[in-house]
Amino acid sequence: METWIDREEKTLLNTYSRMPIVISRGEGCYLYDEEGRKHLDMFSGLAVNALGHCHPELVRVGKEQLERYLHISNFFYCKQGVMLGEALIRRSFPGKVFFTNSGTEGVEAAVKYLFKIGEKKGRRGIVSLEGSFHGRTLGALGLTKIPSVSRNFPTMNYPVYEISRETLGELEALFIKFQPVGIILELISGSGGIEVLAESDMNKISKLCAQYDVVLCIDEIQTGIGRTGKFFAYQHYGFTPDLVIFAKAVGGGSPLGGIIVNQNIDGYFSPGDHGTTFGPNPLGAAMGRKVLEIIDDDFLSAVSKKSQWMQEGLKELQQKFPESLGEIRGKGLMMGIDLKVDPSVLKAAFMKEQVLINITAASVLRLLPPLIISKGEIGKFLTVFEGCLEKLQ
Ligand SMILES: Cc1ncc(COP(=O)(O)O)c(C=O)c1O
Repeated sequence: METWIDREEKTLLNTYSRMPIVISRGEGCYLYDEEGRKHLDMFSGLAVNALGHCHPELVRVGKEQLERYLHISNFFYCKQGVMLGEALIRRSFPGKVFFTNSGTEGVEAAVKYLFKIGEKKGRRGIVSLEGSFHGRTLGALGLTKIPSVSRNFPTMNYPVYEISRETLGELEALFIKFQPVGIILELISGSGGIEVLAESDMNKISKLCAQYDVVLCIDEIQTGIGRTGKFFAYQHYGFTPDLVIFAKAVGGGSPLGGIIVNQNIDGYFSPGDHGTTFGPNPLGAAMGRKVLEIIDDDFLSAVSKKSQWMQEGLKELQQKFPESLGEIRGKGLMMGIDLKVDPSVLKAAFMKEQVLINITAASVLRLLPPLIISKGEIGKFLTVFEGCLEKLQ
C-alpha cells in the first residue's frame, strides 16, 4: 500500500529531509503519530510551539476569531492587529509595528525600512555577521551568512558587509569606510550552532552604532517571545535596539511575523512603500495576543528555572560522557550541545525512544522544547539522552 511518505515524494518538491514520522495530532509537549505512538517534542516546530501543541486557550481564542472573521484585507482596521501591536510595544520599546506572515518577510521589511532611511541620509548597505541565518527569500538570503544555505543563489542588488566574531574589532573602520545604514544580528545564532554574542561584544557594537548613526537591528525570530527567559533576548543585555524582527512563536502556530521600529527611527514608511495581503492575519493576531498574555513575568521566571534544571542535567551528562559531548551553550530554553558522536546515529537513537530532537550546524544538538515543558519531562529527556549515550559508547 502506498504510504504518506510515498505520496509526498511523488507530489511535493524535495526541499526537506524529514523524519519518517507522519503526525496525526499534538497535545502539550507531545506529538502523536499515525500509529498512536507518543513522541516527546524537544524542538517545538523549531521554536514556534512555545506553548506546546493545541494549548486550550489558543484553541479557544482561535475558534472565536474564526467565527468572527478570518480575512478582511488591509483596507479596513483590524482590532486584533492593533491590540497585538500595542502588546508587543509594551513588551519592548516605544515604537511602531509592521506585520508579516513569516520571519524572512520580517527581514525583507527591515531591509526596505533601512533602504528608506539610507535614501534620506545618503547611506547604503547592511552589515551581517558570519554564521547568521536571517531567512531564505532573496533579500534575507543576502544577509544569511551560512554558505550551505545561501549557496550561489542570486541576492539583492544592495551592499552587504560581512563581519565575524573574530573581526568585530574592525567594525568601527567598516562603519567609517562604507557608511552602512544598519547592522543585523542574532544574539544567539539559531541555525549557526547556538553561538551566544557576548555582552562585552554587544556593548561595543551598540556603542559604535550610536556613535556612527548605524541602525541596530536584532533578529529575534527564534530567540524572541520568551524563548531565552526574557521576552526578547536583547533584554538580557544593556541596550535597546532600533529595530526588532519577530516571528515563529508570536502567532501561537499561525504564520505571523513582523518588525518593531523604535520611535527614534519612526516615519520612514508611507502608504505604498510596503505591504502584504495577510499582514497581520487576524487568526494569528488573536492567538498572538493570548500568547503574549500567557508569557508574563511569572512564566518567564519559570522558563529560567527550567533552563537551570536542563543545564544542570546536561552538565552532568557532559561530565559522564566527555568523549561524546562538548560545549553546552545558550540561554533559557534555547540550548546547543556540541556533539562528538555521529549526530544522525544519536537522532535515530532518540527517535527509537520516541523523543524528537533537532541537529543544527552539522553537529550541534539544538534544544528548543515547548516553554511549558515540565520538570518531569526535562527529567525524561535527560534519562533518554543518558541511555542513548550509553548505547553509543
Ligand atoms: C533567526 C532567524 N531568522 C530568520 C528566520 C526565517 O524565518 P521564516 O522561516 O519564518 O521565514 C529564521 C527561521 O528559522 C530564524 O531562525
